[in-house]
Amino acid sequence: MTSHISVNDLKWWQKAVFYQIYPRSFADGNGDGIGDFKGMIERLDYLQELGIDAVWLSPHYPSPQHDCGYDISDYTGVAPEYGTLDDFKRFLEEAHRRDIRVILDLVLNHTSDQHSWFIESRSSRDNPRRHWYVWRDGKGPDGPPNNWYSFFGGSAWEYDPVTGQYYYHAFLKEQPDLNWRNPQVKQAMWEAVRFWLDLGVDGFRLDAIGTIFEHPDLPDHTAKSSLEELHYRAYLAADEQEAARAREEIKELFRYQIDLPEVHALMKELRAVVDAYPDRMLVGESEEIAYYGSGNDELHLVFNFPLMRTNRLTPAWVRANQRTRLAELPPGAWPCNTLGNHDTSRVYSQFGDGKHDAALARISLALVLTLRGTPFLYNGEEIGMTDLLLDDISQFRDTVGIRAYKMITELLGLGPAEAVQLAARVSRDRCRTPMQWANAPNAGFSPAGVRTWLPVNPNYAQGVNVAEQLDDPDSLLHFYRRMLHMRRRTPALIAGDYTPLHEDAEDYLAFLRTSQADRQCCLVVLNMSERAHTLRFALGAPTARLIFSSHKREEETDQLSHLKVAPFEVYVGEVGE
Ligand code: NOJ
Repeated sequence: MTSHISVNDLKWWQKAVFYQIYPRSFADGNGDGIGDFKGMIERLDYLQELGIDAVWLSPHYPSPQHDCGYDISDYTGVAPEYGTLDDFKRFLEEAHRRDIRVILDLVLNHTSDQHSWFIESRSSRDNPRRHWYVWRDGKGPDGPPNNWYSFFGGSAWEYDPVTGQYYYHAFLKEQPDLNWRNPQVKQAMWEAVRFWLDLGVDGFRLDAIGTIFEHPDLPDHTAKSSLEELHYRAYLAADEQEAARAREEIKELFRYQIDLPEVHALMKELRAVVDAYPDRMLVGESEEIAYYGSGNDELHLVFNFPLMRTNRLTPAWVRANQRTRLAELPPGAWPCNTLGNHDTSRVYSQFGDGKHDAALARISLALVLTLRGTPFLYNGEEIGMTDLLLDDISQFRDTVGIRAYKMITELLGLGPAEAVQLAARVSRDRCRTPMQWANAPNAGFSPAGVRTWLPVNPNYAQGVNVAEQLDDPDSLLHFYRRMLHMRRRTPALIAGDYTPLHEDAEDYLAFLRTSQADRQCCLVVLNMSERAHTLRFALGAPTARLIFSSHKREEETDQLSHLKVAPFEVYVGEVGE
């Protein structure tokens, strides 16, 4: 099957490469150790030259920062440490001037407990905003309404002595869940959505959509293992299959709290709100294909998270992922691939093997840029930033990491040194350290002598920084730039269908991207092994013209009867004379 859709018929978000900015860690413009809009504006030229098309901004709203901005206390404001609303407007204008779109993070499930809505809601049982949140009586004198867990551990219910009831929180107790069954909540939130759309933002990444509704009858879950035990098996035990099983059990444990059918009606409403504005988009933090709706009535994009759930991107893994993922999409739905974000290990650390990390980082990028679908990158991956495992609990900023530390010391009885080591692998601080701009004090993120909000990864001094990589044509950064610019000029890589080739090959992934409408067919070969190969392809044309390679190639045109690929080579050629 070949695509009859030309790249020219696609919407901007189908063609775009998105780049996630984590505001706290991207660029510190005022020298206080925390990223801000001034810094972001100063780095827009960098992003333009890098060749990305759109930015996803993690939350920039006022927040007590219990969950790094995902606890919002004002949906139409800007966190003072990041700047003012005028700074935001300038950022948006400057981004747009460079043809970079901007989408915001929208946290619908919960607010901060410091949001005025919640402050009012908890003040008395008959406050007009009481039912903006999920309040319930306990079961007994000391018992919460049921046995549900919070996703971050512990009970999902917090007792509030002021009114003698419990409120529900899918995440931290500082993040009370909104009651989306109350139409007033919808109205207030849609107003906030319109506020940003009116300012010209291009869309939203929707946080934690699966958790927006919970079962109204509050049935107890019937899981046998505790969440702590499952978390341990899912995140700290070494075995991948065991981890996958534990994740399944976690899903079961949360079955009354996640992906309830009611979410779909809500997504349709939100889609209608957004569709009243030209050319805006929604991407959901979920892997559930169901959130595409019938293909054009819920979300524009849903992340292909299953792709990244491994520590080894093998050809077999990718093929299997594409086989199921692409087959499951409803007609018209557009895929969306990513390998890392602010909640996961960094791409360089996650998919490296300790020996060929630099080569594998190139393969990882090539994969998301050549598979069918919109790619999302995470700031810092373009220079090969790695996880930083903090060794001092006082440096942890992520509540999830701090809780893991407590759990490990209490449940496993480990001493502080060992507990920190384990907790550091879970703490999301590991992938949130400041961007490394230069081989300079504080990696050029903040001025010398300033204490940055999270420590800087010392590997900035070993070449993991922007300035030095800009000076080195062979750097990972230049590889990102070359590939991003190549993708833009290559319609088949954007609009084309995906056809796997050589499906038994263990060492390399080969596939075609074909766009009949654009009269282009690209052969992509990602050699994920340290062995060279000479490959034979019977594709109806004898040759391919080189479009891109990670290696120096002898010829501009190759015979497809014996295409040589070097170890870890990324090869893209246009099939035909
Ligand atoms: C998903 C976000 O990506 C994560 O960082 C956050 O902690 C939770 N949602 C809760 O908002």
